Amino acid sequence: MPNVLITGANRGLGLEFARQYAADGWRVCATVRDPAKGKAASDAGAEVYVADVADAGAIARLKGTLAGVAFDLVLNNAGVYGERQAFGYVDPEEFLRVVRINTLGPLLVSEAFAGQMAGRKVIAAVSSKMGSIADNSSGGFYAYRASKAALDMVVKSMAIDLKAQGVIPVALSPGWVRTDMGGPSAPLDAPTAVAGMRKVLGGLTAADAGRFFHFDGSEVPW
Ligand SMILES: NC(=O)c1ccc[n+]([C@@H]2O[C@H](COP(=O)([O-])OP(=O)(O)OC[C@H]3O[C@@H](n4cnc5c(N)ncnc54)[C@H](OP(=O)(O)O)[C@@H]3O)[C@@H](O)[C@H]2O)c1
Repeated sequence: MPNVLITGANRGLGLEFARQYAADGWRVCATVRDPAKGKAASDAGAEVYVADVADAGAIARLKGTLAGVAFDLVLNNAGVYGERQAFGYVDPEEFLRVVRINTLGPLLVSEAFAGQMAGRKVIAAVSSKMGSIADNSSGGFYAYRASKAALDMVVKSMAIDLKAQGVIPVALSPGWVRTDMGGPSAPLDAPTAVAGMRKVLGGLTAADAGRFFHFDGSEVPW
């Protein structure tokens, strides 16, 4: 039975990942920030652990709790959109909060678990086309865009640094999805986006390390 670790699994895409992997027979270790919000993930068949990815101490405690588990897949999903990030209105503390959660959090989680992986050894980061420099035609959203572009760079460096260990880091773009973050006007539902990303993840080989994939399997330009 393969093992997956999913951050931010109490709602949205993380919860849907937990549902689909659990339904497929995987052992799902799901993290939530607030233990009171873990019911949906546990109802889906996941084991629920508490971790705020902005808290290095919480990640270290999670590593200690899961010391005996080797993961086939570490799914860095937790993320925030942020506020006050239009040009001229950027709030410095908010900018750093977004980067801490969206960029540093996945790096620290990956550092914690890269040494305890099994099977295909995939570390995935749920990024966004909003982090693609090539795809940016509308500007704005400084904190979110910068945090995801930096996350993509983290993935690329990990692909180089972890090559000898056989770990495959990739960035994923889920599309625009109806979640709390995506809002009600988004064209995609979470089951469709997650099924697409799972298909991408299931087909990865070592040659895909350091690449950025859209949920439909196409490659996203940096
Ligand atoms: N929806 C879209 O259209 C879309 C598009 C591109 C990329 N993405 C990316 O997809 C990922 C999931 O987004 P979503 O749409 O599912 O958003 P969502 O519904 O807002 O869910 C975000 C999840 O991240 C968790 N989270 C936030 N801050 C955290 C922290 N400091 N530590 C641990 N967990 C934290 C939330 O937990 P709480 O409930 O405790 O806040 C929640 O479980 C994010 O990385 C997002 O950037 C989404």
